[in-house]
Amino acid sequence: MEKLEIEGPQSIDSMLINGPHALTYHLISNQITRKMNVKDGIAIDVGAGPASLSIAMARITGLKIYAMDIHPEILRIAQESIKKQMLGNRINPMLGDVHQMPFPDDFADLIFSRGSMFFWKDLTTAFQEIYRVLKPGGSGYIGGGFGSTSVKEKIKKQLKHDSNRSYKSPPKIHIDTFEIAILNAGIRDYTLINDDTGLWALFVKQTN
Ligand SMILES: C[S@@+](CC[C@H](N)C(=O)[O-])C[C@H]1O[C@@H](n2cnc3c(N)ncnc32)[C@H](O)[C@@H]1O
Repeated sequence: MEKLEIEGPQSIDSMLINGPHALTYHLISNQITRKMNVKDGIAIDVGAGPASLSIAMARITGLKIYAMDIHPEILRIAQESIKKQMLGNRINPMLGDVHQMPFPDDFADLIFSRGSMFFWKDLTTAFQEIYRVLKPGGSGYIGGGFGSTSVKEKIKKQLKHDSNRSYKSPPKIHIDTFEIAILNAGIRDYTLINDDTGLWALFVKQTN
């Protein structure tokens, strides 16, 4: 696998579906489907990286998923990984910036994102865009984390064990900053989770 610098502290190969973060994608995909109960329709993975969470979601749902990322090079790696998993008919890599998403209004049944928000330049605009693209009644699951502390510790150990990979924490977002951005974006029906699983915002777009 070629070396590629992207925004984020971890190497791309550590984020591949069969890499050290595999357990995280398995865990988080189950958490998303259990909590939001959206298993069919259209989904968007924002800041998808090599599309590992998209792959984990496609395995346990019938969703058609757009794996969107701002970085064209990482989308080539995503494409390879999706092809290897024979999910080319279910996951579509898509170039796009969360601040100006390349989707129409009221388009997606589910928008999820892991570990990308730390790099967004304007959290309020990002949440406004995500909310715009969601269908009324559609769900958002946005945040960052490993799914559980024990999985996080296992991954850290594994990365440390490999001399080329030391674990570096991503930049942090304070829960208050997160909540203010959500409120400023006009989202009212939301739940914040800040626990063992990570920092996440769960919301449903109002129907009116
Ligand atoms: C730490 S990686 C997480 C990748 C993936 N979600 C995962 O959990 O394996 C962060 C990703 O967010 C993407 N990203 C950063 N800013 C973005 C933006 N404004 N719009 C879309 N993607 C963005 C980066 O290119 C990178 O692939």
